[in-house]
Amino acid sequence: MRCDVTFRQATAEDLTVIETFLRTAALPLEGVEAHLSGFVLALRGQEVVGVAGTERYGAHGLLRSVTVRVDQRGQGTGQALTSELIRRARDAGLSSLFLLTTTAERFFPMFGFVPITREDLPPGLLASRELQGVCPASAVVMHLALQAGVLR
Ligand SMILES: CC(C)(COP(=O)(O)OP(=O)(O)OC[C@H]1O[C@@H](n2cnc3c(N)ncnc32)[C@H](O)[C@@H]1OP(=O)(O)O)[C@@H](O)C(=O)NCCC(=O)NCCS
Repeated sequence: MRCDVTFRQATAEDLTVIETFLRTAALPLEGVEAHLSGFVLALRGQEVVGVAGTERYGAHGLLRSVTVRVDQRGQGTGQALTSELIRRARDAGLSSLFLLTTTAERFFPMFGFVPITREDLPPGLLASRELQGVCPASAVVMHLALQAGVLR
């Protein structure tokens, strides 16, 4: 699918727009400000059409907040944004990405994410405020290996 979006790393001025996207999608705001440098904006022209972020914990990343503006969905933006975050994580030398979702467990397998149990999460990720009870215990936990190797 053709997707004409560009990407840029979030700055402090982008916090409000990111929070607006997440509120609209009913996704957690906790931890966004602390991990703002791991957030990326998808732009169509000058307009922000999507946001997503990676919280970094040593060699592991927590992919979170993948959100496309409602009127921009179904045009490949979510896939392009997720692929961009995966590419950036790989370039940063992360060995794996994890995520929690209650809404998109059928979206992420197309990138290679596989379901795991919470017990499989690396201990370092438990510092994440998103993991510390923000997401319901029923959330699906998923993993993507970025380098050759095992889960942790
Ligand atoms: C999930 C989301 C980011 C997808 O963005 P998008 O720009 O519409 O996605 P794309 O156009 O790149 O991809 C569309 C494909 O993904 C699938 N898809 C989209 N949202 C999906 C979802 N929630 N679950 C499963 N599949 C989904 C579509 O069926 C479509 O598949 P197809 O191409 O085979 O028809 C968007 O729906 C969104 O912002 N949702 C609300 C926030 C959210 O739940 N985020 C995930 C939690 S981290």
